[in-house]
Amino acid sequence: MQQGKVKVTLGGISASMLSCLWGRAQLSKEYSSLFYDAKAVELSEKIDYDLSTSDVPPFVAIWFNISRKVNRPEFRLGTLRAKQFDDRAKVYIAEHPHASVINIAAGLDTTFYRVDNGLIHWYDLDLPAVIDVRRQLLPEPDRVTYIAKSLLDPGWCKDIKHTEDGVFMIAGGALGWFDKSEVEQFFLMLADNFPGGEIVFDAISRLGGSLRTWMDMFPPEQRETMRAAWMEALKDWWEKAPQNQKDKLNDMIAELKTPTKPNGKEWSDLEAWWDQLGEKEGEEVVRDLMTAFRGGTGMWALEDVNEFTRWDNRIAVLDQFPLYRNIPRDSVSADMRRFMDYSDKSGGSNIIHLRL
Ligand SMILES: C[S@@+](CC[C@H](N)C(=O)[O-])C[C@H]1O[C@@H](n2cnc3c(N)ncnc32)[C@H](O)[C@@H]1O
Repeated sequence: MQQGKVKVTLGGISASMLSCLWGRAQLSKEYSSLFYDAKAVELSEKIDYDLSTSDVPPFVAIWFNISRKVNRPEFRLGTLRAKQFDDRAKVYIAEHPHASVINIAAGLDTTFYRVDNGLIHWYDLDLPAVIDVRRQLLPEPDRVTYIAKSLLDPGWCKDIKHTEDGVFMIAGGALGWFDKSEVEQFFLMLADNFPGGEIVFDAISRLGGSLRTWMDMFPPEQRETMRAAWMEALKDWWEKAPQNQKDKLNDMIAELKTPTKPNGKEWSDLEAWWDQLGEKEGEEVVRDLMTAFRGGTGMWALEDVNEFTRWDNRIAVLDQFPLYRNIPRDSVSADMRRFMDYSDKSGGSNIIHLRL
């Protein structure tokens, strides 16, 4: 444990909030012209990010190790969704200075500090274990209320007390963890409770949802380097991970319906097995492992933006655009520029803005 730092131990998908906070803090330090969040930097300094000895689920620990080891800014660029949310939130707040803004699945997100006008009412909603951590690291300031409930629990809608000047919601890295019917129920619940309100969120498409095809967001000439770096980071995780995490991963692999299985339970066995999988099999493996990791539910991905209106004709699509649209490219490296351009062209990650 790092001296004086807080070790955040969270099970399930909640631990993924650490990657998001870390990503925003790193981006702020490395590319402040793209995005800057002083509060995220401050908060991030308080956290012991060594997940290798903790009991967070293997996938979260692996992803995090990969993002930190493969020292490529592309791994943190996804957190630029926050910049897109900020722009939309600021416009809404300018028109509705006393609005209620709800940060759904807030984790340790600090958007409030970036967009506050001194008048809005802000709500950060997340699961009780996360809200406990949030309270410990970042006590509720004035005009901010933390709500310790599941986003699927309609009970939280009644906790929003100030709706007279409109309701604006953001949901970053949130909806992809649920299955389609849960996401549909969630939007119906919002339309019932916040008519006229708006929500901005990120939505990955089927393409962005797979690790193999995620690699396709890198321009072809970068893929082999990325893949090699990725495997190296995975190996590094393996070497440090507690045995129970390795066992969990091996158990999940044993349950897969793949034509082949690793010959043993050591790193070399897993690596040899992974290397011989075809492109399509590899994609299925990652998808099935992700599903097993989340306890068997499907992973919602955006197919067609008109689906929201089909679910409920009170919902109107105000905008849909690729994640990096309008993010200035002039101050970043050529690789980053290519990555953003390529990602936007592939349509893997999108920002959606709806009116309820
Ligand atoms: C990838 S993190 C994103 C956190 C934050 N929005 C950000 O951008 O930093 C996913 C978040 O979803 C939260 N979450 C997962 N299931 C949830 C649920 N049923 N209700 C509310 N939050 C949930 C997790 O606890 C976690 O904080």
